[in-house]
Amino acid sequence: MNLLVTGGCGFIGSNFVRQRLAGSDPLLPKLVNLDKLTYAGNPANLADCTHDPRYVFVQGDIGDPALVARLLAEHAIDAIVNFAAETHVDRSIDSPEPFVQTNVVGTLRLLNGARQHWTKLPEPRKSAFRFLHVSTDEVYGTLAPDGAPWNENCPYEPNSPYAASKAASDHLIRAFRHTYGLPTLTTNCSNNYGPYQFPEKLIPLVTLNALDGKPLPVYGDGGQIRDWLYVEDHCTAIWLVLQRGRLGETYNIGGLSEKRNLELVKTICALLDRKAPRADGSPHAALITFVQDRPGHDRRYAIDCAKIQRELGWAPRESFATGLEKTVDWYLAHLPWCREITEQRYAGERLGTKV
Ligand code: NAD
Ligand code: DAU
Repeated sequence: MNLLVTGGCGFIGSNFVRQRLAGSDPLLPKLVNLDKLTYAGNPANLADCTHDPRYVFVQGDIGDPALVARLLAEHAIDAIVNFAAETHVDRSIDSPEPFVQTNVVGTLRLLNGARQHWTKLPEPRKSAFRFLHVSTDEVYGTLAPDGAPWNENCPYEPNSPYAASKAASDHLIRAFRHTYGLPTLTTNCSNNYGPYQFPEKLIPLVTLNALDGKPLPVYGDGGQIRDWLYVEDHCTAIWLVLQRGRLGETYNIGGLSEKRNLELVKTICALLDRKAPRADGSPHAALITFVQDRPGHDRRYAIDCAKIQRELGWAPRESFATGLEKTVDWYLAHLPWCREITEQRYAGERLGTKV
């Protein structure tokens, strides 16, 4: 199948593209990556893929109907995986509008383009066409400490502008399936971590601040819980759903690995104490600084991934301990990639400003 990936220069998208292009997959003649290259999109994330003859990069917006129509026709696209989004909750609190523009309007326009393309396809390509929308567990809201992890039947209760925009996009996917019969699939995943995550997110932010001897900002009391999944496991799940998921269904994907933020930050500090000790011998945890909480901060996320386990045989392969150590090692080995972002492209716009 010829695949259109959107947002492939971001964190999860770039890991997905690299995973798909690894080896010679006879199922993948062509992979087109449509990315607007916002502050979070970085072509350097896929520098090692640019020479692959199957890979085509196009800078552009999922909300550009003419461009989307041209790409779908020109590259005879058989499947779309939509990663493109504004993704950072804090930014959505400061400025919600770009989130509605890309996550809602952009997804709607991409769906419209997909529908027009799909309607004209001859069989058997029409029946085989797929639109997979990558979404988040944040659409479900927040869980009580003793609440059962979310399954696919839980009600949507998004709390942040980011979560609301993703919830709206999920509803559009559902509506396009129900109304027009477009062959859609939706995945709702928990917090990802791993290589190439933009350093405004908790794990890379703490790792890089600690190496620089800067404060490690912990929001509120640090008692919030997230369910962490190694990014490669997420990418494997998306590919499985794309190939074998039941049309119109949603699949929850989670790490089975709930951690409190403060515990997570302390674990990163302990890893760095071993791998990159501070010159004065003091522990990195001494840099932990409690700061003002995120407004409306969701207390706990946790995913019940029994459906994808049962139907598609997927389970996370990476343990949190090994995944986190691999991730910290990756950042230590890729400091020029980090510095290019923090010192040039990003220029301290947000990093550390909360402290
Ligand atoms: P990211 O912020 O790292 O990357 C987003 C990418 O989308 C960037 O390359 C950006 O340039 C591109 N983009 C933004 N607006 C665009 C537009 N209008 N047109 C084309 N490209 C555009 O995001 P991520 O963390 O890799 O997340 C990818 C997807 O997975 C998102 O849809 C997100 O909601 C979802 N998700 C993320 C997580 C997580 O923990 N990171 C968890 C569950 C779901
Ligand atoms: O659950 C999936 C979601 O995970 C994705 O849909 C989002 O796109 C992704 O950004 C992520 O959202 P979070 O808000 O959970 O991730 P973030 O890394 O921003 O924060 C993780 C937790 O750490 C959260 O409880 C807020 C807290 N935090 C974050 C930052 C940046 C801090 O305590 N200090 C910080 O400096």
